[in-house]
Amino acid sequence: QTFKDIMKKVESGEDLTKDEITYLLKVEGESELKALFETADRMRKEIVGDIVEVRAAIEFSNYCNKSCHYCGIRNGCTVPTRYRMTEDEIMEGVHELHRVGIKTVVLQSGEDDYYTLEVLIKLIKRIKRETKMGITLSVGERSYEEYKALKEAGANNYLLKIETTNPDIFKFIHPDDDLEYRRQCAQWLKELGYVNASGNMIGLPGQRAEDIAEDILFYKEMGIHMIGIGPFIPAAGTPFEKYPQGSVEMTLKAVAVTRLVCKNVFIPATTALASVDPDGQKKALQAGANSLMLISTPPKYRSNYQIYSNKNMIDLDSAVKAIHDAGRKLPKYLKLDNNQQEE
Ligand code: 5AD
Repeated sequence: QTFKDIMKKVESGEDLTKDEITYLLKVEGESELKALFETADRMRKEIVGDIVEVRAAIEFSNYCNKSCHYCGIRNGCTVPTRYRMTEDEIMEGVHELHRVGIKTVVLQSGEDDYYTLEVLIKLIKRIKRETKMGITLSVGERSYEEYKALKEAGANNYLLKIETTNPDIFKFIHPDDDLEYRRQCAQWLKELGYVNASGNMIGLPGQRAEDIAEDILFYKEMGIHMIGIGPFIPAAGTPFEKYPQGSVEMTLKAVAVTRLVCKNVFIPATTALASVDPDGQKKALQAGANSLMLISTPPKYRSNYQIYSNKNMIDLDSAVKAIHDAGRKLPKYLKLDNNQQEE
């Protein structure tokens, strides 16, 4: 089977097999890469259009009781300062985002028991009452009952990345976690009606193209709605600090193939990509991606949320620039200064 045969299958709308997905992920020739990215870009345009959705994250606590080997805020890692934002501090950030027209706030933290179900429910209800914004929670593995209560309180989306579907790699990088439980969480989130967001890292130790193909098939089979794909980036002070960084090109190929396979999904151009390549987000937007996430953690805290080293703090200006550079449209809901608006 050749590249052309597989691309024909893509055009005809037939499902690709794991071997075909793997083949596409291994493509290296310049003309084939170009064809892969262009096909994904065209499919993105046909299916989800030219507007790039913009969300914003408030990373409200960097305390974490897990010790994932790759993560710069893992338990056991020396972070300059551990912090927890109060409800009022979080609300201040939420209102600021509301004022610039952002429609969805992503509340992310380490797995921190301080924010009990009661604390989170109170916060969610307050955000809904005061702003009516969409809420994405990203607070890790919880029980079915907790996910249910958070949904009932008003959370709309949940972001819990599978990181890798390879059981050996998952175990190797997550000393405290179990792949089956992570899958179970994704299944529960789906059953509960969350907009279900997942994702994986590219360039994990021992990871092959075949493993990434399995990740993509997992998204399709689980009906995942939002898929964030980023390169692994070594984080200082972690067991993986000397490991090689994941490749930008493989990340872009994974983005493109995910668009071809999963079709009508949100694919963010990830912060991790922007952190290893100044044009990373533009490149991803031109290879199948259609959303961006701002880092809106208050300046005094954000440098302590270095899940990997040299994290790029994407703000509204840099997001607008990436969207313009990629030749795409800003969402109408953003309230920008006149000079940032499209002509
Ligand atoms: N390199 C790249 N991505 C990382 N993440 C965490 N640590 C790293 C790292 N060292 C990603 C994971 C996680 C998200 C919050 O950030 O995918 O789910």
